[in-house]
Amino acid sequence: MSDNAKKMDRFTTELLHGSRLKDQYGAHVTPIYNTSTFVFDSTEQGAARFALEEPGYIYTRVGNPTTNELEQTLAKLEGGEAAIVASSGMGAITATIWTYISAGEEIIADKTLYGCTFEFLTHHISRFGVKVHFIDMTDEEALRNALNEKTRIVYLETPANPTLKITDIAKTAEIAHSFNPEIKVICDNTFCTPYIQRPLELGADIVVHSATKYLNGHGDLLAGAIISDAETIGNILLVGIKVMTGAVLAPNESYLLMRGLKTLAVRMDRHCSNAMKVAEFLNSHEKIETVYFPGLADHPGHDIAEKQMSSFGAMISFIVKGGRKNAAVVADSVKIAALAVSLGSPETLIEHPASMTHSTYNDEELLEAGIPGGLVRLSVGLEDPEDIISDLAQALDKVEL
Ligand SMILES: Cc1ncc(COP(=O)(O)O)c(C=O)c1O
Repeated sequence: MSDNAKKMDRFTTELLHGSRLKDQYGAHVTPIYNTSTFVFDSTEQGAARFALEEPGYIYTRVGNPTTNELEQTLAKLEGGEAAIVASSGMGAITATIWTYISAGEEIIADKTLYGCTFEFLTHHISRFGVKVHFIDMTDEEALRNALNEKTRIVYLETPANPTLKITDIAKTAEIAHSFNPEIKVICDNTFCTPYIQRPLELGADIVVHSATKYLNGHGDLLAGAIISDAETIGNILLVGIKVMTGAVLAPNESYLLMRGLKTLAVRMDRHCSNAMKVAEFLNSHEKIETVYFPGLADHPGHDIAEKQMSSFGAMISFIVKGGRKNAAVVADSVKIAALAVSLGSPETLIEHPASMTHSTYNDEELLEAGIPGGLVRLSVGLEDPEDIISDLAQALDKVEL
């Protein structure tokens, strides 16, 4: 067995046994502590908890036993010291950025990002005196040129949504940290999950997730996660989550997310093997101009993906010949895949980024980010791969060139 396979086996065990809360009844499954507040024995105890001198719960916005159990598991899976979950991926991302940025400071971000992250960085954080430089993070010179004494955050997704562009995490972190070790390199690991890629081990400082996607894996909740060292997570909890956003995850959702997480490894194995087959089918189809999937040998980021990912994920984008009109024909003609945004659900989902998830980009920004009107994004589900392929084949038959 290869070292990687052994590591993955241990990961799978960790998913199930990573942390287990012991309650007074010996419950095997973590109970849901549906309480907003916790009773103190005395004012002295309450004061000691507020002063962080005594461990223990105070109020669910700053901690809850069900949520805490989930956070400990996520920290172990990502190879971090600590984690916090949030009410959505955007809650996790904004809480993290608000904690580490002040007026007059700067962020360097990749120009290809999930649409709402891009919108936050383009239109909203700029209202607070923060400057954002958008670059192609795969261009090392561009990163070196953008770094300056005001840089506080370097932000990237890899694979990027929706183009599946791969950035070398270790290289990016090395360049940023050798300029200034205080810079926080933040990596959105939503497309991979820690089963496939562990950015902290590669040098990133903070990992953020939309846990709405593969981590939960059932398309039935919204959640986010942040993983880092204990001091950083303590800061984000007390500033970004507790005060600046209040984007806390409710105990019911923590429980559901923990339940979904248990099957992450088996789901990801099937998602990834299905995606490889679908990508090969699309890549040989005469009505498709380009397929973006890091598992294909001709993908520009294939070699880096092989180095930093243990498999290639299950997100595929492709450009249909004939542009936007024909992209719509494909997306409107599928019968098994659902025409819906989001990703990482058990069912295959298809969407049109330029008019949906990335409609926050204007036409010029879409071109800069490599998101033409003919691009369709596919989240390959857990169905029989032959059914996914024949569904796409019949939809592509409807395209007239
Ligand atoms: C890569 C990525 N990051 C963050 C988000 C935001 O997550 P949420 O929808 O849970 O707020 C998304 C949502 O699609 C995403 O794709």
